[in-house]
Amino acid sequence: MASCNDIHESKEHISKEVVVIVVPLPAQGHLNQLLQLSCLLSSYGLQVHFVSSAIYNRQAKLRANGLDMDKLHFHDLPTPAFQSPPPNPNSTNKFPTQLQPAWYAMLSLRQLVAEYVEHMSKQAKRVVIIHDPVMAAVVQEAIPNAESYAFNCVSAYYYSSFVWESLGKPFPIEQPKNLPSFKGCVPDEVFKFVALQEEPLKYRAGYLFNTCRDIEGPYVDLLEREEVAENRKLWAIGPILPSKSLSANSQHKCLEWLDKQAPKSVIYVSFGTMTSLSDEEIKEQAIGLEQSKQKFIWVLRDADKANVFDGEVRRPELPDGFEERVVEFGTVVRDWAPQPEILSHPSTGGFMSHCGWNSCLESITMGVPIAAWPMHSDQPRNAVLITEILKTGLIVREWERREELVKASTIENIVRRLMASEEGNTLRKQAEELAAVVRRSTEEGGTSKAELDSFIAHITRHNMDSVSPTSSSIPSSSTGCNISSHVSAA
Ligand SMILES: *[C@@H]1O[C@H](CO)[C@@H](O)[C@H](O)[C@H]1NC(C)=O
Repeated sequence: MASCNDIHESKEHISKEVVVIVVPLPAQGHLNQLLQLSCLLSSYGLQVHFVSSAIYNRQAKLRANGLDMDKLHFHDLPTPAFQSPPPNPNSTNKFPTQLQPAWYAMLSLRQLVAEYVEHMSKQAKRVVIIHDPVMAAVVQEAIPNAESYAFNCVSAYYYSSFVWESLGKPFPIEQPKNLPSFKGCVPDEVFKFVALQEEPLKYRAGYLFNTCRDIEGPYVDLLEREEVAENRKLWAIGPILPSKSLSANSQHKCLEWLDKQAPKSVIYVSFGTMTSLSDEEIKEQAIGLEQSKQKFIWVLRDADKANVFDGEVRRPELPDGFEERVVEFGTVVRDWAPQPEILSHPSTGGFMSHCGWNSCLESITMGVPIAAWPMHSDQPRNAVLITEILKTGLIVREWERREELVKASTIENIVRRLMASEEGNTLRKQAEELAAVVRRSTEEGGTSKAELDSFIAHITRHNMDSVSPTSSSIPSSSTGCNISSHVSAA
């Protein structure tokens, strides 16, 4: 692919000419992926500015895992006022609608983002904005002084299947049977916010995907087709991995507990930062885990509020005496869990997950098979990718039955199948083989590494032609930006 001469020539030289401004969506899974990207780009000697309101910069830094943030610049924009209601654990729809006030509040930062970019453009030859697709409206007014790239925090499989469905065309690649419908994935009120990004998204110069062609090649190819990409460039540069050694990074007590367990004997249970379980669901989960008699680490936290630093958080209650009864074989984590460390630990042999894209990528990279329990957004299709296409997991419950309570017996069975059966052993082996492929893609000579080098060569290219899109270069068709498909990745 592209020559890397440009980037190795002189790091000093690059940093003066090209400034990268990263604008994330305030939702943990998105903040994390864009922060990982920022650190990766700064490791190439690029000057990278992570720009968000003060509380989200704080949240991103606080929860960073295995990242070298030394050279990163955080630019805090004033946090606009917004409501931060608690999540509703009793809702049958698990989409985190409680985050929406924060997303709307970000729209009021448009002018400040534009001023910041303008300021930067006076010091650099080129300003490159990398933004969450769902933040396209926030960077829109900055475009005259920069070129912008949308960084997609979702799988190429989800994205492409959503786009083809919206085009009303048959999917060009053979699909597994009984696909989960898109119905119920994202509430209508959220689509309204997403729709605000559609027009501004047309100004992007290209796309980045946090995936690799070795696992999602056919779907990445689809997204490169003319009818979707409309002549824009696309780079599949993932998975972006933590840059520091993980083992040295965390002292969490659950890791000490893991050290004492047999290889691949523990199932890690976590539904991410956006899922609140009801009291009833927690009870079934607890009984299911207990009856499975398998070792487990269960992260039991309430979903994030829009402002995670704002006051009280519901403490989900466990059945009486549960923690005492399971003390020999299970551990419940109430605080922030070091997920990459847990997944990469030799004692971990399975992951019960909501299939947010972050969690999928971490699990795939660490070679851990998944018991897939999708909750909303891209997750039902990510679960198809994991269980039917990559064949490294099992489905906990069908998407069409999402409003039914998942019984303890279902949880018990799936945990046993994953952790204590031949079927589970086969999935683990498959997951380990896939992990080796994925890791190679990010190393020298691998596909994702080559695409990353190509992207960096592209944004640091020497011809300093005007990059601001003129009205004539803005595509008129809207098929290329079905951004409803970007909604969630946490
Ligand atoms: C959820 O339901 C439980 C009863 O099952 C109730 O005690 C609790 O107050 C409800 N929470 C909310 C936020 O509605």
